[in-house]
Amino acid sequence: MDEKNQNNQTIELIKNRRTIRTYDPKALTQDEIDAIVQGAMRAPTAGNMMFYSIIQVTDQKLKDRLVVTCDNQPHIAKAPLVLLFLADMQRWWDYFKVCKVEEMCQERSKDFQTPQESDLLLASCDALIAAQNAVIAAEALGIGSCYIGDIMENYEIHREMFDLPRWAFPITLLCFGHPKGDKNKIPLTSRFPQKFIHFTNKYTRLSEQNFTEMLKNDRRGMRIKDAQNIGQNLYLSKLGADYSLEMRRSVKVAIKEWIKKE
Ligand SMILES: Cc1cc2nc3c(=O)[nH]c(=O)nc-3n(C[C@H](O)[C@H](O)[C@H](O)COP(=O)(O)O)c2cc1C
Repeated sequence: MDEKNQNNQTIELIKNRRTIRTYDPKALTQDEIDAIVQGAMRAPTAGNMMFYSIIQVTDQKLKDRLVVTCDNQPHIAKAPLVLLFLADMQRWWDYFKVCKVEEMCQERSKDFQTPQESDLLLASCDALIAAQNAVIAAEALGIGSCYIGDIMENYEIHREMFDLPRWAFPITLLCFGHPKGDKNKIPLTSRFPQKFIHFTNKYTRLSEQNFTEMLKNDRRGMRIKDAQNIGQNLYLSKLGADYSLEMRRSVKVAIKEWIKKE
């Protein structure tokens, strides 16, 4: 990175962001909340259709329940601001009904389609890009944040808790709050060397030697308990763990519901 970029405040902010899980209990001001939500809403979206919605969770009972339904994460209950990001095609299909789009298609012998898998992915892109804008807007105000991916678990329960229609899928939850204590004391997490992430023109599969180099400075290697290497460790603790199995089950149910024919 050249010197010009090193002095760029936005680049510095992005480079120094870290996930914050312990919050000062003081409430965020309405101005702070608006800046975060309006920051999210300036994110680019596919065709500027804004295929997402945000639910601000203010009810402490809902927050307490989310702790349990999102794999027992107590920081959700203590976060002064909790935003649920939905991949949302419901708004548009409701409007299509208002606009009699199906009838128009019939008159023109054109197939009228309801949202399918691609729409879920597109809406998820919109929602996640908006979420990351919210993270950066918050960061600029000195407010920390934490994504909760486990919101994709327990689809049936979350659907009921937030009264979600079938084409609104909870893709991520964000907790926000001023960091408790000096956030700079939380070490920055490591990243893999750029060459293993950033390819030119074509995908590159990695060799065993590449993996050794890629993970050389990975602190997770120091925490291996019942496993012989980082791969075994991370499979056991993450992608093969109970929460991942529940997420796979839950998302299967949600997709089935999303694409089912009336
Ligand atoms: C999609 C996604 C899901 C995440 N889910 C959780 C979560 O459920 N709980 C949590 O404490 N952190 C969660 N995180 C935060 C990551 O653990 C964190 O970003 C990662 O360890 C890197 O640390 P850093 O953000 O401080 O750089 C999630 C992050 C992302 C992007």
